[in-house]
Amino acid sequence: MPSQTEEIKQRLDIVDLIKEYVQLTPAGSNLKAKCPFHNEKTPSFMVSPEKQIFHCFGCQAGGDHFEFIKRIDGIEFPEALRILADKAGVKLDYHNPEIHSRKTKTFDLCDDIALYWHQKLKNDAGLSSIRSYLEERGVKSRTIDDFLIGYALESWDESIKYLQHKGYSLLEISQAGISCVSEKGKPYDRFRGRLIFPIRNIHGNAAGFGARKMKDEDTGGKYINSPQTDIYNKSEILYNLDQAKMEIKRLDYAILVEGYMDVLACYQAGTKNAVAVSGTSLTEGQIKILKRYTQNVMIAFDADVAGTLANLRGIDLAWQAGLNVKVIHLPDGKDPDDIIRESAEEWRQLVAKADNYMDYIFKVTLENLDLSRIDHKKKAAQKLLKVIGKLGDEVETAHYVKKLARELDVAEESLRKVLLRLKAQLRNQKSPAGEESTSSGFVKISNGDYQRALAERLLSLLIKFPQQISFISQQLDPEIIAENKAQEVYKMLIIHYNKEQSFNYQSFIKEFSQEHESYLNKLLLLSEVDETKDTHLVLHEEFKVIIGRLKKDHFNNKIKEVGQKIARAEKEKNQDLLKELSEEFNKLMSQLKEV
Ligand code: UTP
Ligand code: MN
Repeated sequence: MPSQTEEIKQRLDIVDLIKEYVQLTPAGSNLKAKCPFHNEKTPSFMVSPEKQIFHCFGCQAGGDHFEFIKRIDGIEFPEALRILADKAGVKLDYHNPEIHSRKTKTFDLCDDIALYWHQKLKNDAGLSSIRSYLEERGVKSRTIDDFLIGYALESWDESIKYLQHKGYSLLEISQAGISCVSEKGKPYDRFRGRLIFPIRNIHGNAAGFGARKMKDEDTGGKYINSPQTDIYNKSEILYNLDQAKMEIKRLDYAILVEGYMDVLACYQAGTKNAVAVSGTSLTEGQIKILKRYTQNVMIAFDADVAGTLANLRGIDLAWQAGLNVKVIHLPDGKDPDDIIRESAEEWRQLVAKADNYMDYIFKVTLENLDLSRIDHKKKAAQKLLKVIGKLGDEVETAHYVKKLARELDVAEESLRKVLLRLKAQLRNQKSPAGEESTSSGFVKISNGDYQRALAERLLSLLIKFPQQISFISQQLDPEIIAENKAQEVYKMLIIHYNKEQSFNYQSFIKEFSQEHESYLNKLLLLSEVDETKDTHLVLHEEFKVIIGRLKKDHFNNKIKEVGQKIARAEKEKNQDLLKELSEEFNKLMSQLKEV
């Protein structure tokens, strides 16, 4: 008789197993994919249906069913054995010590207590008020079964007693997060008096619980969740993914909602690809798991929530992972559950009308601004360019810069410059080493562009910190700035400041003709998005670098010019001119050295 592991391997095709995690394509008599165990662009991960093994020629990972599931789920043999036995329909011999570990015991415990709480909710004569609560909220009996919803009695130790009776120790009960310890050191039921939502892992085992309070006067949050345990890590689990994963694969997108009730409502409305983040913002771990099934997510968060920083971070992560993100517009602070209860049809329409995340951010940002006001324009540019700067794709970036230019009625070119700077700043924040950027925070670009950008940086800093103008004017002659427009503005800044002894942008801008306006606006935008603080040291260091660079370029150019003149004078044997030029040359050289 084959061992149970052999039996499982014979019954379960490795191709079917791996297909659940990886997109396989045929390659001769084998199948190939991009390796899930290391990052690669071209597939070197192979599966052999004939030999029932996998192997990666890139990272050398390889083996059988067990090796695969252990690696991909990061688990040990006993858990792998149970998962695969379940998939293969093999009943494990429970006397076999191989199948027991601390983790598998915790899984058993959670499954046992989930079922117990569920039975209570279904049958306990004293719980009719809880059942009517669910009925009033539109939760059908079938849904209660499918999600194994339960209720933990309002008792200090009912659940603990039950589990002890099933043979679990107090330590195991506490390690599974079912009990807490009172100040006096006595264990009590953590979820007492709450409606229970078992949170199942990808394989359908209960790993943790979400629990809603049923009485307003009860202490604690509306929902409490299991603490971190051996088998429950809230940042690596998505509520309902076990039931939704195949539908997500089929439809090729997932809907991300906030809460348990939203998932239930979606499920009843026929939206079976909804999963919940359960009170966290989207994490890297969750994204990684989602990516096994689709590259597309739709977010159906409360409008206020979707735009918050924490969520932006989550969406950032999703972008970086290459996911396409769309947003479902939820009207006036409603959640999907609220909407579906009013009309499932409306919900389906909202899903169909989901916006690209960027379009959504545009909409909500611009909605609240008056774009005829220059300060509002600046605010919009600042906020949206920051988000655009995070897009990985160039075509997409170009598309949204264009859109923003149109919306704000400013030149695309100006926005692109600001974006360049923002990106450089971002890069600097990310890598303090900043291999690709200079000390003044610019990306490396052609010399002419570089000089222009330097001058713009200087001017935008002076606009932001006008009290520095008189100090800087002593260090830097206007003629050092090569670019005409920049030199002009610099001169005017000095004149304006000396005359007024203060600086006001509105009156300053009046001194210029129309053709300077877009240039000045760009400078203003640059100063607006700049994050330099007026701490003397940083600011002066920055000025020093900029002025040094400008001077160096200036003198280098002059020296080149004089050098050419000298060559010509030599050819013409013009001794007087040659002498004059040589002196000038030497003077420039020593000036350059001084910089
Ligand atoms: P909501 O407060 O929006 O709850 O929290 P809900 O899902 O709409 O629940 P109902 O409709 O009032 O019953 C959204 C989700 O955030 C988590 C839960 O996962 C909840 O489903 N949450 C909320 C907590 O973890 N703790 C809390 O105190 C509140
Ligand atoms: Mn709700």
